[in-house]
Amino acid sequence: MSITSKTTEENPQSASAKPSPPSATSPDSSGEKAIEGQLNSTERALLVDAILSAPSKPWVVLEVGTWLGGGSTLQILRALEKTGQGHLWGIEADRNIYERMIANLRSHAPEAIHRFTPLFGFSQEVIPRWIAGQPAGFHIDFAFLDGSNRPLEQITEFKLIDPCVPVGGQLMAHDAKLRKGKWLVPYLSRLDHWQVKLHDVSAEGLLHARKIAERPSIASLKAAEGELSRLKREPAELAAVLLPARLRGLILNLLPRKLAARLSDGRK
Ligand SMILES: C[S@@+](CC[C@H](N)C(=O)[O-])C[C@H]1O[C@@H](n2cnc3c(N)ncnc32)[C@H](O)[C@@H]1O
Repeated sequence: MSITSKTTEENPQSASAKPSPPSATSPDSSGEKAIEGQLNSTERALLVDAILSAPSKPWVVLEVGTWLGGGSTLQILRALEKTGQGHLWGIEADRNIYERMIANLRSHAPEAIHRFTPLFGFSQEVIPRWIAGQPAGFHIDFAFLDGSNRPLEQITEFKLIDPCVPVGGQLMAHDAKLRKGKWLVPYLSRLDHWQVKLHDVSAEGLLHARKIAERPSIASLKAAEGELSRLKREPAELAAVLLPARLRGLILNLLPRKLAARLSDGRK
């Protein structure tokens, strides 16, 4: 068993975004207690199918937000093992979660662990460093974004990886209907070098996009950036950026639970 220990130690902070309760657990062939993970069974099947049915099977897969490893991470690893090729780099920003995720995958997916490299830290810092360390001609064939609840982060992650994704490459992102993904869906839908589909199969929503051209037309890029500027000016998101974190926490604590959940992660 070999998890490549290419960890990033520089950022010891914890991620602010904690996952909502898991929607499913991963069945374990040994009968052991399954690892906790998110994504319902339909979302898991869509994720696996996107890898297995890709016309050219992914070699390089990147995931942001592994949490405990029993959701998307385990599904991706098992799908890669089925295709007999490919490697997953999984980014996680919470130190404690990161250590548990590695232990979970070591004990529950020994057959696929040779296909996994965990990366510790915040995606915005880890992705550029990871890309810079790759050989010339490197491509990201498949990416799965499921990190922080802040909508700008999926946009930032997308912009970092887009130049490395070849035509035919795929992107999936969880929580497409919630606050986490509420900017990426309209942004990406306006870019004409990606074909976008929203799987409305859960309260969270799963985005699935395929790259169909090397770069966007100038007009579509302008439309996407215009929409993004408009979304950034929404009062709730402006407040999230401008108010100090402690004050935001205080306000959320004072609000009724349902309203606080709607503001912080976009749940209805
Ligand atoms: C919703 S959970 C991921 C669930 C997981 N994909 C699954 O299927 O079980 C989000 C995870 O992203 C991590 N996270 C939050 N912000 C991050 C960031 N900027 N970079 C990397 N990980 C982040 C959190 O610590 C958390 O473990």
